[in-house]
Amino acid sequence: MSNTIDFEQQDKEYIANTYGRFNVCFEKGKGSLLWDVNGKEYIDLGSGIGVTAFGVDDDEWTEAVTKQSHALNHISNLYYSLPQIELAKQLCAKTGMKKVFFSNSGAESNECAIKAARKYSHDKYGEGRHVIVTLVNSFHGRTITTLSATGQDVFHQHFFPFTEGFIHTPANDIDAALKALDNPAVCAIMMEPIQGEGGVMPLDKEFVQAVTKYAHEHDQLVLIDEVQTGNGRTGSLYAYQQFGIEPDVVSTAKGLAGGLPMGATLFNEKMQYVLNAGAHATTFGGNPICAAAGNTIINRLTPEFLDSVKAKGDYVKATLAGKPGILGVSGMGLMLGIETTVDPKAVITKCLEKGVVCLSAKNKVRLLPALNIPQDQLEKAIAIVAEAIEELAAK
Ligand SMILES: Cc1ncc(COP(=O)(O)O)c(C=O)c1O
Repeated sequence: MSNTIDFEQQDKEYIANTYGRFNVCFEKGKGSLLWDVNGKEYIDLGSGIGVTAFGVDDDEWTEAVTKQSHALNHISNLYYSLPQIELAKQLCAKTGMKKVFFSNSGAESNECAIKAARKYSHDKYGEGRHVIVTLVNSFHGRTITTLSATGQDVFHQHFFPFTEGFIHTPANDIDAALKALDNPAVCAIMMEPIQGEGGVMPLDKEFVQAVTKYAHEHDQLVLIDEVQTGNGRTGSLYAYQQFGIEPDVVSTAKGLAGGLPMGATLFNEKMQYVLNAGAHATTFGGNPICAAAGNTIINRLTPEFLDSVKAKGDYVKATLAGKPGILGVSGMGLMLGIETTVDPKAVITKCLEKGVVCLSAKNKVRLLPALNIPQDQLEKAIAIVAEAIEELAAK
């Protein structure tokens, strides 16, 4: 029996069939190279889905994770934990935020942001001011509440009743957003600086600034979902830093711990004491191994390194512009969406055949490579992506 039949059949038999998987089973990797169970090599332009920020088996990450595993693999949040403190301190120092709550995923980091926003408003104004405005085409997670926050009807099915108290307004329409905020029941607005799952759609700076200004003038909170855009992905530590705003709450996950499950919700001065003892908790949040891993990611995101992320993104955009079958490339830094004349899933399949791993988001081919992908591997992989699109477009 070949490996292929074995993993495909057994996966379908034993694992809940919630994922439409591509027919590859990866076994190992090093940096931005991956190998499948048949020994075939791939260049990775997906890094999970923007998770392995410094690639697979990155020396610094592996050393920190190994060391922490030997020292203390878990301690409950009833006790202090040095790796957690160090990571929170770094995040605050680099953003100006004041407190961090650690969780285990993007959805949880948003759930925490939503709870904090509602509690802030409830503490100060009492009942009835709990509505959160989010954007059409957004994606905020898969829990019942973060599905409600997600501004896509396709996610509002099957699981009724959803959490109430979310309204959706079109991205980049300032008038519509201000109208939505002009409501005594609204306590916050939540937005992704670049809608990732929504097709790598950056928000306009003018829009983000206008809604932030209005919200702040009305004591409504600005919650920025940096689950996908965060941790160096767009060429700044957090993407909001390129939009000239100061959010009240920032949620993040994905690349934060470079491949281990970790979410974080950052609070500014105004929000820092809203979630008090007993108001929120999680068993695994801030696990010392995840925190030690996170420290190796965040402490390498220096201004010089972040410039190299921007330069690589610019290289991809310049290289792909005007190529056959390519209509444009959206995104910032190494969060990129290629709009093509062909089906993105067909591009992914062809790229896999040619030894390159990429992703899709709505109608685009999405690239989220490791932030430190070597330039020669990036160049080789981008040439293959362009070739795959050209071949499909010529059919
Ligand atoms: C912007 C955004 N928010 C939240 C999530 C949910 O994160 P997780 O899958 O870690 O729960 C995602 C995942 O893709 C995301 O892109």
